[in-house]
Amino acid sequence: MLSFSTSRFLLRSNGIRGPKVFLTPNIAFITSWAHVPQGPPDAILGITDAYRKDSHPKKMNLGVGAYRDDTGKPYVLNAVRKAEKKIFEDKLDKEYLPITGLATFTKEAAILAYGSESEPLKEGRISITQTISGTGGLRVGGVFLNRFYSHNKTIYLPTPTWGNHNAVFKDSGLEISQYRYYDKATCGLDFNGLIEDIKNAPKNSIFLLHACAHNPTGVDPTPQQWDEISQIIKERDHFPFFDMAYQGFASGDTNRDAYAIRKFISDGHRLALTQSFAKNMGLYGERAGAFSIITGNLKEKAAVDSQLKLVIRPMYSNPPMNGARIASYVLSDPELNKEWLDEVKMMADRIITMRNKLKEHLVKDFESKRSWDHITDQIGMFCFTGLTPNQVEALTKKYHVYLTKDGRISIAGISSSNVKYLAEAIHEVTK
Ligand SMILES: Cc1ncc(COP(=O)(O)O)c(C=O)c1O
Repeated sequence: MLSFSTSRFLLRSNGIRGPKVFLTPNIAFITSWAHVPQGPPDAILGITDAYRKDSHPKKMNLGVGAYRDDTGKPYVLNAVRKAEKKIFEDKLDKEYLPITGLATFTKEAAILAYGSESEPLKEGRISITQTISGTGGLRVGGVFLNRFYSHNKTIYLPTPTWGNHNAVFKDSGLEISQYRYYDKATCGLDFNGLIEDIKNAPKNSIFLLHACAHNPTGVDPTPQQWDEISQIIKERDHFPFFDMAYQGFASGDTNRDAYAIRKFISDGHRLALTQSFAKNMGLYGERAGAFSIITGNLKEKAAVDSQLKLVIRPMYSNPPMNGARIASYVLSDPELNKEWLDEVKMMADRIITMRNKLKEHLVKDFESKRSWDHITDQIGMFCFTGLTPNQVEALTKKYHVYLTKDGRISIAGISSSNVKYLAEAIHEVTK
């Protein structure tokens, strides 16, 4: 027996949920989803699927952007394990967090990004909310800007950028445009192109900037280049929106990696920022992140706080607590904090060592005639190898090395035991 409902799924009188059924006097018909087209698979997850199905003993997954230790295993940080133990011992409750999340976490996240000496931080002018990791922060920020950034609804993204940026900002209602970033000829930064595009964009445009360890290219501006970018963004009255998914992963030093953000602040920009603790604390699945925005005064901050709540409440009500708790313990306890910073450095150093080894094997052992300097010039988790789609295909088919079609490899997925194999494979497909 059926009952009527205006919701998508109705509760039948026998208590079982079923698809919506429309009743006319004589016929009942069920809503059809035949018109829904099959969506494309996620590019990166597709690579992992193919990798899993491959039974070759030397297979390598360099597609996914997650840190692996030198035995190729996922790594849970010691500082994180210790924080988890403390949380367990403290017997904390599981009540809902407020809409903007755990206050001890957002306080520490702001200090980590902006530095304890930051003027807007000391003046209490930073509006910050916990978010569902970096992605959630970008989405909350995108919706907030769409609602309240009245000048211009276009966000400029670097070419190339992290694949999800396009979808996140499109779904936030913003228009997407591009600025030049990567120079294929040098496998480095197209600084002139970038500056030209910032200058030519209509005044008051929104510019998405990767704070450090640019994904997918591994190419970051130098501090001097950041200074210039900051000046030109200011001259054009653009709005800088920083995405910092890898603080600490570029140089091994969280303060050094925050250079661009702190420089922009000292130049007077009222910027927005998303932070992720997925990579630098290894909290991938815990979804701990933050979105913040610099306001002009306390009144403005209170208004922005209230509007961020109105963005978040209908989206997911309030964020998950476990990752935020772990991060807040790690950031606020001096001993755990020190241990964490050492581990961040250790992870960054292992990545740098793998870059050096990969280049060394290519140049010295396999005598590749190509220049591989970009492997060590680039920074962070990823290397944009410059391999063509055909070479990528050959690498996967012949050598069982999985990576994205654009030639990006996650250096964090290489280990001492397979770096030479990878170098040989790259040499074979590029000679
Ligand atoms: C540039 C960039 N931004 C944001 C994210 C979001 O990561 P998460 O949502 O896992 O924090 C990533 C993850 O790969 C990234 O590379």
